[in-house]
Amino acid sequence: MGKAWSHERGEGKEEWLTPPLIIKSLGSFDLDPCSPVNRPWDTAAKHYTVEDDGLCQKWEGRVWMNPPYGRETNKWLKKLAEYGNGIALIFARTDTRMFHNYVWNAADAIFFFKGRLKFYTVDGQEAGTAGAASCLVAYGKDNARILEMCDIAGQFVPLIVEAESMTFAGMNSAL
Ligand SMILES: C[S@@+](CC[C@H](N)C(=O)[O-])C[C@H]1O[C@@H](n2cnc3c(N)ncnc32)[C@H](O)[C@@H]1O
Repeated sequence: MGKAWSHERGEGKEEWLTPPLIIKSLGSFDLDPCSPVNRPWDTAAKHYTVEDDGLCQKWEGRVWMNPPYGRETNKWLKKLAEYGNGIALIFARTDTRMFHNYVWNAADAIFFFKGRLKFYTVDGQEAGTAGAASCLVAYGKDNARILEMCDIAGQFVPLIVEAESMTFAGMNSAL
């Protein structure tokens, strides 16, 4: 049995990349603000690396974000939540302060993967299975719709209820 891999324990694991089929299933992105210096494939039309410090750059267009792990993740997710147009890949640690601040109380939808992801190394090889469940988080209604329609195995969870779906028998639509 393969060894479960935790990409939060250092050892250069911060470079572990998104399975390319996932990004392909989500349409084209304008920007990946946290990309490896030597990437095996494009994840967006434009990439920032650690040499640019993507966290300090101005973001434009639809963002793909699989952020640096560990304590840094919080800052990246905060910036994407405030920016409001993109999809993030993060651990499904639904009880954490970060998840409450920038997902439950800020995102438009979540997609929980069925099973654990296998990430990739910068030389394009499939690596070990992640040590925890992961999810995709959508910011913006268009990105939520893309998660809802995507062909990835898992469960879509909308977070912001549309006004019209609040109308039901016995309840005034103005409420
Ligand atoms: C988990 S990997 C994800 C890579 C890629 N975005 C993907 O989805 O496959 C996080 C990446 O962020 C990069 N990174 C770390 N700090 C950064 C910074 N300040 N600015 C831009 N990229 C950074 C790392 O080098 C690493 O390649």
